[in-house]
Amino acid sequence: MTEPHPPSSPAAELPAGLYCAADYARLAPDFIAPDLFAHVDGGSGHDRTTAANLSAFADLAIVPRLLRSVRHGHTRCELGDIVRPHPIMLAPVGSQASLHPHAERATAAAAAATQTCLIASTMSSITLEDIAAAAGPDRWFQLYFQPDRAETLDLVRRAEAAGYTALVVTVDTPIQLPSYRALAAGFRQSGDTPNLRPPPNRAPIRIEDGQSQILNGFMRDAPTLDDIDWLLTETRLPLWIKGVMHAADARDLVQRGATGIIVSNHGGRALDGAPSTLSRLPHIRTAMGSSALLLVDGGIRSGSDVFKAIASGANAVLVGRLQAYALAVAGALGVAHMIRLLREELEACMAQAGCATLADIGRAELVPFAHAGVPMP
Ligand SMILES: Cc1cc2nc3c(=O)[nH]c(=O)nc-3n(C[C@H](O)[C@H](O)[C@H](O)COP(=O)(O)O)c2cc1C
Repeated sequence: MTEPHPPSSPAAELPAGLYCAADYARLAPDFIAPDLFAHVDGGSGHDRTTAANLSAFADLAIVPRLLRSVRHGHTRCELGDIVRPHPIMLAPVGSQASLHPHAERATAAAAAATQTCLIASTMSSITLEDIAAAAGPDRWFQLYFQPDRAETLDLVRRAEAAGYTALVVTVDTPIQLPSYRALAAGFRQSGDTPNLRPPPNRAPIRIEDGQSQILNGFMRDAPTLDDIDWLLTETRLPLWIKGVMHAADARDLVQRGATGIIVSNHGGRALDGAPSTLSRLPHIRTAMGSSALLLVDGGIRSGSDVFKAIASGANAVLVGRLQAYALAVAGALGVAHMIRLLREELEACMAQAGCATLADIGRAELVPFAHAGVPMP
């Protein structure tokens, strides 16, 4: 048996062997301690949904189309009245200090350099104000509801004051079970959460005899639709709801006033056994209609995955783990390089599928891949 080797420090330059965005996932174990890597790479429980997210992309093939001019093509992405140069966004990923000493500052600098929308997590390892200072203007804040509405509102007001232009409300993890793989590797959650003020003397949750620790205990303060309605009355920032997997939930949330929906299963870190996000996307797009704003994340490791997500109904995509891996491997440079690679891979796919714009991708043909089940290398 070989001993796990200690992780290297993040590279000051790009290490050799980075030919495609997915190479960051391949190199990441050399830069992340084994227990932390198991936590980041894993999902919840048996990691089945994390694996399903990846294989959903691997199972689909893109049908090439020939002799179409793409010479005036571009990857411009319109979301409401904002036009971005490309459809790749940085998903909220908490505790980035565990991955790189410059933590979220490095990610924010990479986002600014590549004109990429950054979504800063409530669980970031530096404050949302410090992230804003390092970020470009295109920044959203990911909000976790706090047990107390005053604490939630405090985060919202701080995000508004720090110039975040939208809120992403993550609703899929009121309870989050660890990955068995991460537990077996000895991973224990640690690190600061400086966005959260020390909780006031909140009464401990007491459950009666015969009550469920989960349903009556942990879930006591979990947000409900009433909290979404309340938040909509409290802020003028656009609200994106992250973690939606059912068309009826998506419709309901948009009818209540949400600006858009992020189809997500938290990268398989919420309900283990939930379907892949890519498999849900076409249903949700059909139910919502062509004008709804739909983002997706979960399993994106290449530009061809971005293409497949857009062909399946997404307006744009978020990347989580690739961002974490690129940060761990080479800091800000790594994240910026990873985004550039993803974008170039997307453009190469567009060229070969005869798609000059993202709208053309929406009409591209995807078919089951002959080697279904074989994951991307
Ligand atoms: C290490 C890690 C930390 C994460 N932290 C957050 C978070 O703080 N808030 C949140 O809404 N989602 C969080 N996510 C989920 C991501 O935003 C995203 O939904 C998921 O990573 C997408 O799947 P992918 O990693 O396959 O790209 C986290 C994911 C990972 C891997």
